[in-house]
Amino acid sequence: MPLRIAHFTDIHFTERPTRIPFRKLFSKRVLGLVNLALLGRYRSFADARRFAEALVRDLEEARPDHIISTGDLTGLSLPSEFESARAALAPLLAAENVIGIPGNHDVYVRSAVKDRLYEGAFGIWTRTDLVPADFPEALRASWPYPLVRDLGESTTLIALMDVRPTILHDSSGFVPEAQVRLLEHFLGDGRLAGRTKVLALHTGLCRADGSCDRRLHGLRNARALHDVAARHGVALVLHGHIHRRFVIPACEGRPFAIANPGSLTSRHDQHAYHILEIDGGRIRLEARRFDEDRGVFVAWPGAPGTGLIYPGKGT
Ligand SMILES: [Fe+2]
Ligand SMILES: [Fe+2]
Repeated sequence: MPLRIAHFTDIHFTERPTRIPFRKLFSKRVLGLVNLALLGRYRSFADARRFAEALVRDLEEARPDHIISTGDLTGLSLPSEFESARAALAPLLAAENVIGIPGNHDVYVRSAVKDRLYEGAFGIWTRTDLVPADFPEALRASWPYPLVRDLGESTTLIALMDVRPTILHDSSGFVPEAQVRLLEHFLGDGRLAGRTKVLALHTGLCRADGSCDRRLHGLRNARALHDVAARHGVALVLHGHIHRRFVIPACEGRPFAIANPGSLTSRHDQHAYHILEIDGGRIRLEARRFDEDRGVFVAWPGAPGTGLIYPGKGT
């Protein structure tokens, strides 16, 4: 039986600018507010709840084996945004098969990290099969990241925490050195030999055309991550952050596939999510997108990048 994994990202529940408490604005959130109010970002995400609720209904019907969220559930890491996200995604909080990591907008300011807002709202999604004692002692402070989960009989997911509060205009990601070393450690573990290895993070390794993302937007140590993934036979990298959807099948020079469903909510994209089907080491990708007329997600057979994206080893 193939393993089916649903992947969505970047819903961005965003508070209406006029409702943001004044005292919450003494931080980088001021810049966020300018983006929201003056540059139209709020309008782009105003329908987050409608798309999220339709997504939940669709997942209940599609019944994938596992569901992965690669973050940016909120806009400015406001408590009210986390509450809205929790309310709309409530059925996915009760489910046991969801794994979710934060995006940079979920750790937008230091106070949100200090108050553990993401963990309070979605900590139940940071599931890992490992306990601290499974980490090498020198790197144990990094636990629970990277999250390591066996999905089905022959697939293992490793999910990284690659976001942190940054200064104004910086929305880059960075995987701390400890996690890079742990990633090498776990990927190189003999117990993963022969398994299909899937990596998830928020910030991507490259843009849609394969080029490096900007320093202030991309993953700072993308090259190191790329090399570790290639060296250890990662089959697929899942991410979000770039709001326009793209898929890059495995190819010469990059032996793993990359899939980013794009922001589920942004009006600049197709309101889509992906279903990855893993069977005998081969990976196929299907896309589903929101049908405005019917208010539901439907199959999107002609979506660019659908079909076989990873041929399996030795082919
Ligand atoms: Fe985002
Ligand atoms: Fe992001």
